[in-house]
Amino acid sequence: MSARIRRRNVPEVPPALSAEEAAECAFASDQGLTRHHFTSGEHPIVRIEHLNKSFDDTLVLKDVNLNVWPGEVVVVLGPSGSGKSTMLRCINLLETPTAGHILIEDEEITGKSNADVNKLRRDVGMVFQQFNLFPHLTAKENVMIGQTKVLKKDKAVAEAEALKQLAAVGLADRADFKPAQLSGGQQQRVAIARAVAMHPNVLLFDEPTSALDPELVRGVLDVMRDLAENSGMTMIVVTHEMGFARDVADRVVFMEDGVVVEQGLPEKVFDHPENARTAEFLGSIK
Ligand SMILES: Nc1ncnc2c1ncn2[C@@H]1O[C@H](COP(=O)(O)OP(=O)(O)OP(=O)(O)O)[C@@H](O)[C@H]1O
Ligand SMILES: [Mg+2]
Repeated sequence: MSARIRRRNVPEVPPALSAEEAAECAFASDQGLTRHHFTSGEHPIVRIEHLNKSFDDTLVLKDVNLNVWPGEVVVVLGPSGSGKSTMLRCINLLETPTAGHILIEDEEITGKSNADVNKLRRDVGMVFQQFNLFPHLTAKENVMIGQTKVLKKDKAVAEAEALKQLAAVGLADRADFKPAQLSGGQQQRVAIARAVAMHPNVLLFDEPTSALDPELVRGVLDVMRDLAENSGMTMIVVTHEMGFARDVADRVVFMEDGVVVEQGLPEKVFDHPENARTAEFLGSIK
C-alpha cells in the first residue's frame, strides 16, 4: 500500500535524450545565456533533465533542467531552502534523485551500482561549507589520501601532487600543519587543493565561504577565481558572493522553491532580471 502511494508521488518523466539530440537542444537553449565560448560539435559536460527529488513525499526539486558546458563556471543563487544543496548533492549522488536524469559526459549516472557510484565520485569533486578535512591528518596527508586510496596512486606521486596543489592555493608552508592549526580560510583552501588533486571533470562548491570570518573570504575566492580563469575547470558554485558571481560566473542560475526560475549572463540577471522573484531576492541581499 505505502509502496503504491509512494510510486504515485514519483513524477513521470521522459527518457533521457540521445547525446546528439541533447547537445543540439542545449546549444539552442543556452546560447546567449552564458559567456561560454561554444566550439563546434561540443556536448555539455553535465546534463540535468527533469530532475525531481522528494524528501518524505515533499518535492524539493521540481523538474530541474540544466546543462553545464566544459570549462563553464555556473553560479547558483537562491533563498534558503530553494534546493541548491540538494541539486549539487544529486549531481554527485550524495542524494538519490527521485526521478529524472543526470548525465556526466553523456553517461547517465542515475540508477547506477555502488561500484559505478564510486567511479562517479572520482569524476565529480565537491567542496563543502564546513571543509570536511580529516582532523588527525596534516594538510598534505589530507590532499594525498584520496589519491592513494581511491586513485591508487603511489605515495611519492601523491605527495608531489599534494605539494603542488597546496602551493597553488598559497599553502606551501603549511603542508605539515593539521586542520586545528590552520585558519578556516586555510582549511578551505586545503579542501580545494584536495578536490583539485583528484583531477575531477566537474567541481561542485556548496557555499564554500559561508562559514568563514569575513577577512578570510577573499583568499578562498581568489583561489576559486584562479581555478576558474586559469585551469579550465568546470565549476558549479552555490554562493552568496555576488561580486564573485558577477566577475567570474559564465552564467548565473536563480532557483526558488525547487525550480530554476531564471538563468543567464551575470550582467543580465543582476542588472535586468526578468523575474520579479529574482529581482526581489537580489534586492534583499545587496
Ligand atoms: N535530508 C533531508 N530530509 C528532509 N528534507 C530535506 C533534507 N535535505 C533537504 N531537505 C529539504 O529540502 C529543501 C531544500 O533544501 P536545500 O538544503 O537543498 O536548500 P538550499 O537552497 O541549499 O538552502 P540553504 O541556502 O539554506 O543552504 C528544504 O526544504 C529542506 O528542508
Ligand atoms: Mg544549501
